[in-house]
Amino acid sequence: MKTNNLLSKGLAPNLNVEWVSGKDEFIKIKGHEQEIIDFTSGILVNCLGYNNQLLKNNLNNTISKGILHSYHYQTEIKESYLNSLKEFTSEIFDDPKFYLTSSGTEATETCLKLILRSGLNHSEERNKILTIEGNYHGRTMGAALMGNGNIYKNIYSELNDYFPKVNFPYMWEVEEKDGETFFLQQLNAIPKAIRDSICGILIETYQGWGACSYPMSFIKAIEKFCLEEKIVLAFDEMQAGFYRTGKKFGFQHYDVNPDLICIGKGMGAGLPLSGIIGKNEIMDLALEGELSSTHSCNPISCAAGNTVIEVMQSSEFKSNLKSNVNLFNFRGKALIEKFSFLRKKSNFIGMVGALVFDFKENKKGVEMANRFCDEALKSGVLVIKTGREAVKLSPSLLIKEVSVNKVFDIFEKILNKFNEIL
Ligand SMILES: Cc1ncc(COP(=O)(O)O)c(C=O)c1O
Repeated sequence: MKTNNLLSKGLAPNLNVEWVSGKDEFIKIKGHEQEIIDFTSGILVNCLGYNNQLLKNNLNNTISKGILHSYHYQTEIKESYLNSLKEFTSEIFDDPKFYLTSSGTEATETCLKLILRSGLNHSEERNKILTIEGNYHGRTMGAALMGNGNIYKNIYSELNDYFPKVNFPYMWEVEEKDGETFFLQQLNAIPKAIRDSICGILIETYQGWGACSYPMSFIKAIEKFCLEEKIVLAFDEMQAGFYRTGKKFGFQHYDVNPDLICIGKGMGAGLPLSGIIGKNEIMDLALEGELSSTHSCNPISCAAGNTVIEVMQSSEFKSNLKSNVNLFNFRGKALIEKFSFLRKKSNFIGMVGALVFDFKENKKGVEMANRFCDEALKSGVLVIKTGREAVKLSPSLLIKEVSVNKVFDIFEKILNKFNEIL
């Protein structure tokens, strides 16, 4: 029976292709003669590309010791990874604490728990978490309610009051100079009793579907509010962390100091690894035994995490990344300039971008975006089909310049064809 018939409908892939093997930025896809350039990183995960020799060596080394799982017992690799992570984040937190998990939603769910614990320190009434409309934080119940709510929003509608929202300041609606006013207007629109009981704010560092960034003034206004109210400021860095946006963590674009950051995806280069890092006084608000997860600090995941940090600390990585970011943005922005239907909403930050097909009729944008994905694959490039009017682009951070140029030449050809028929 085909995979698609066996998996729950809830997990249906929107692009039904079968991956066979991979090397660097290339993957083999069943039924395609040519190697495909993966411009998705498996949806922002495989940041070191495929078949990375250092990663394989480190994984094999750990596997050869025979312990694939240790739950809450200590291992050398766990200690070594936590120390690497501490060093990696030393410019952000002086004396951090960590909690490692295996999926992103566990990390954001833990963030929710820690924010609530810090609220309880103020008073029992401080029990609401402010989040941003359109942000995504995962599929478990708390994470979902901090995002669009999914089924929980309708069935347990009374819970929505615990997760007030402000609108997302899309760059085509809110200018940099208006970010603070926009935030304050949104905040003041929330009923006072709810507003006064906010104990923390969670922000997705950029909004996923369209790689949408915020005006800096908006994020600074949020930080100011958190400092004034003495409440927690947290970033969901699942996609944005580990140099995806060109900086080590995406929030660093906004010159703010979070209390907690949720991490995952690229941090494990394909192995299930996620977690939360924060100021120890907040991380330690969790009661003893309140945080646990069967695959926390899994030895193989820790070996992968160590490899990611080892690669990212090297000067070679940093200089390659700089050229990649320059080229990716230069070629991306050239497309935006050239094609009027992309101009208003498309965005590129570091090594992530989205081509947003903006037409009066949204349906047409979605159709064009889907067609673009199909045409790109026919020409040898896999891109992220979002199901919306956006096509998301997020290659391996180690991609070679020649591949970036090849991909953008292909994109330009496809868009030229679109232009002719519009
Ligand atoms: C910003 C963000 N937060 C949380 C999650 C949830 O992560 P996971 O799918 O690993 O549970 C994702 C996943 O796409 C994400 O992009």
